[in-house]
Amino acid sequence: MEQTKLVELFNSLTLDEKIGQLVQLSGNFFESNDVIPTGPVSKVGIDENKVYQSGSILNTSGAKQLKDIQDRYLEKSDKKIPMLFMADIINGFKTVFPISLGLGCSFDPEMVKKTAQIAAKEAAVSGIHVTFSPMVDLVRDARWGRVMESNGEDVYLNCLYAKAMVEGYQGDNDPSSSIASCVKHFAAYGAPVAGREYNTVELSERTLRDQYLPSYKAAVDAGCKLVMTSFNTINGIPVTGNKEILRDLLRDEWEFNGVVISDHSAIKELIPHGVVEDSKAAAKLAIEAGCDIDMMTSTYSNNLKELVESGQLDKKFIDEACMRVLELKNDLGLFENPYRGADEEAEKKYIMCDEFRQFARETVSKTCVLLKNNSILPLNKNQKLLVVGPYANNNNLSGSWSINVDPEKVITVYDGLKKQGNHVSHTNGSPLLDEDSKLDTFGYGKTVKNDNEDAQTLLEEAMNQAQDADVIIVTLGEHPHQSGEGGARGDITLPKVQIELLKSLRTLNKPIVSLIFSGRPLALKEVDENSDAILQCWFPGTEGGDGIADIIFGKVNPSARLSMSFPYSVGQCPISYNEFSTGRPAKTSTHSKRFTSRYTDMPNDPYYCFGYGLSYSNFTYSNIQLSDNTLTLNNKITARVTVTNDSEIEGTETVQLYIRDLVGSVVRPVKELKGIQKVLLKPHESKEVSFDISEDMLRFIRRDMKFDSEDGQFVAFIGHDSSTENQQQFVLIK
Ligand code: GLC
Repeated sequence: MEQTKLVELFNSLTLDEKIGQLVQLSGNFFESNDVIPTGPVSKVGIDENKVYQSGSILNTSGAKQLKDIQDRYLEKSDKKIPMLFMADIINGFKTVFPISLGLGCSFDPEMVKKTAQIAAKEAAVSGIHVTFSPMVDLVRDARWGRVMESNGEDVYLNCLYAKAMVEGYQGDNDPSSSIASCVKHFAAYGAPVAGREYNTVELSERTLRDQYLPSYKAAVDAGCKLVMTSFNTINGIPVTGNKEILRDLLRDEWEFNGVVISDHSAIKELIPHGVVEDSKAAAKLAIEAGCDIDMMTSTYSNNLKELVESGQLDKKFIDEACMRVLELKNDLGLFENPYRGADEEAEKKYIMCDEFRQFARETVSKTCVLLKNNSILPLNKNQKLLVVGPYANNNNLSGSWSINVDPEKVITVYDGLKKQGNHVSHTNGSPLLDEDSKLDTFGYGKTVKNDNEDAQTLLEEAMNQAQDADVIIVTLGEHPHQSGEGGARGDITLPKVQIELLKSLRTLNKPIVSLIFSGRPLALKEVDENSDAILQCWFPGTEGGDGIADIIFGKVNPSARLSMSFPYSVGQCPISYNEFSTGRPAKTSTHSKRFTSRYTDMPNDPYYCFGYGLSYSNFTYSNIQLSDNTLTLNNKITARVTVTNDSEIEGTETVQLYIRDLVGSVVRPVKELKGIQKVLLKPHESKEVSFDISEDMLRFIRRDMKFDSEDGQFVAFIGHDSSTENQQQFVLIK
């Protein structure tokens, strides 16, 4: 629709109709039966005759279903403004990829972009217009449940993924293969105090800007059409009512002119936050702060009109929010085609088609991280294998955001291994959860019924079956709902009953390969002490079993690297590689050991560090060389290494460039990732890998709060992971 026509339509709207565009409900208000509740399903309390004025619904899908809803809606809509259909498509729609934390370990933004493209295709033909994705929250605390939904702890990497995902979803805005991207959760939701869900965030403005905001900015710069507000506070003010964040920063400084939508119930939650007394004040605070759409409450619907008519609220706030929603609908072509990409025939052709499933399988083998391998892997197909443990033949492999997955289509570990191995048997070995587990699922209050199999019986059966095995593959992990929203944990170890299984099998003195299924980094010390090989599989999605088997039997040489540190213990959380030195660094302080920054009962270093991951190849690095030791505003320094594959197996190495600013006007991280390159090396092949270093890579929020670099000494590192000491110094002279 021409802008002039859109303005005419806007001008024809009543105040009620404008407010209606700012309300998002769920599909069940429109006779949709299979609604997927992704938030507290409390009573919304909306006036029945306002339901058909609302502007959008969430988490209902299916071409026919959404066409029917749109038809019913438009029949009853005076001004015939089509409804927007939004959904949580986080790591795939029907073809489910590894969880985002796993995708983050690929160190392959192009691969991650393609997962978004496939998700967009499946969602578009299913009638979806908008996805609440990518989630780009920086996370450094494994206790928080939603680390599974993030790409990890690194600023640079998260920015690459944010851009890739937005471009993957939105493409060229083709209705049949693209959906609008809503970046979330703005901002800094991934830094809750104590890792506890929905908790307060306490960050200095410098840390917020240097570490936590860049990935949202990357999504905005990539053109995301929506931003979702986060539940948390920043500087003591809930973001959903925080004008400094939503207007001054997002709209004025970043020049974002798309739609801002609240997170689920977040506007109404301004009341329990204690920044407003009632829903009328909540509506006023949120709309004036710049939050356009009220997700799943009646706060806007029941209060905005009275606020305007009583002179407590300037109508302009409603006008601008409504216009942004209409412009989004117009940008998506809904006035011309309210169904957009919904197409039943295309659904049949594209949903979980072989091409998409094959690619999903490749993403599995590129995201599973090989943490240990005492020359056990890869296995050969004639070895007698026992697959044992609660994930041996379990199709619940897609993580807590796979709300559209078809479990019957998921390839289990046993499914995958038996296709490639000649002698593979399986048994459960143990329940998934300890007897005293109090885990609530997304069923809101229903506790996960522990597996009703007796642990002792399962263990005895496993020990019997293991007698005959050459190699024991132990599948261990969390329940998918021990991570995800509401999935914070104060203890990040595996259930005792699973460790008991592992230790019992260890007494048989047979090679043990442990496969770990989790939505977070776990404390794996006991697994390491009782395994010859460890593969971190995350929740690998629909093609999990096949992708894992490809690695186990050596069809694929693992190349993934950790995008989040694995703590030695929960006591180290939050932990990340790019920490500050402190005045008493444990490794270099002149003070006696006691009086340095350390623990008395565990090391400072994580169990597995950021960037770590093994391959079946063995990669060696030459010393780093710099083309120059002086960097100015007008030149670049090229940093070079030669990487050699010192093995008989072709493999891909992920070469990482880190930089340290030795002295700043404020403290600076001991390392910061500034470049990644993947290099494929044949057996005994060497290749030179180089990175250009330029002044703009050295900028940060200085003491004067300006984003800029400072003269001085720097160190460039190039290596296999964040623990590398392969370094050369250079100086910046501006
Ligand atoms: C949830 C989540 C958010 C999701 C939204 C809609 O509470 O916080 O990530 O997109 O509600 O389901």
